[in-house]
Amino acid sequence: MKFFIDTANLDQIREAQELGVLDGVTTNPSLMAKEGITGRNNILKHYVDICNIVDGDVSAEVISTTYKEMIKEGDELAELHDQIVVKIPMIKDGVKALKYFSDKGIKTNCTLVFSAGQALLAAKAGATYVSPFIGRLDDISTDGLNLIAEIRLIYDNYAFETQILAASIRHTMHVIDCAKLGADVMTSGLSSITGLLNHPLTDSGLAKFLADYNKGN
Ligand code: E4P
Repeated sequence: MKFFIDTANLDQIREAQELGVLDGVTTNPSLMAKEGITGRNNILKHYVDICNIVDGDVSAEVISTTYKEMIKEGDELAELHDQIVVKIPMIKDGVKALKYFSDKGIKTNCTLVFSAGQALLAAKAGATYVSPFIGRLDDISTDGLNLIAEIRLIYDNYAFETQILAASIRHTMHVIDCAKLGADVMTSGLSSITGLLNHPLTDSGLAKFLADYNKGN
């Protein structure tokens, strides 16, 4: 399972990269705004800064909503750096844009996916990644994890190569459950990655080992 970090915060991206388990980064316009990154040039520069920290794929989302504008914007984003993945919303023109980029060999991430039917369309259009938002489904009393299971079944039935990128992860159990269900990738905030480290028996066990070592020295 690949681990992506879901943030535009450079310090957190560096921290995850230094941990040695990071495979990529996802961003969206809200995450960029949260870091105070505004204005086209600043946003484009920020994507390059992120690419210079990590080794893997970096999703950069288009803000256009028509096919013509999406392919123009996506082409510009893809030219920024060879690690850029063009993030496209699951709308009608977005499906056409996914096919355009797939045919050009440019990686894509189909975002705002909330149903198995949408995921099937994204795979048919040749998306590199599909991003089901499990936390937002849970937020409206719908089983987000069940969507991961449905997409896994459908993609395996037909050997689709589109990778399931579990998004909108809220906590460590989402990460573990997505791994059990066979999501190819998960993207989360730093706390859901570092939270996997924690166990009280590890802490008490280590304290005991160190105390016993110090008795003899
Ligand atoms: C990532 O690609 C998504 O944009 C992100 O995971 C959405 O998360 P949220 O539901 O916490 O905003």
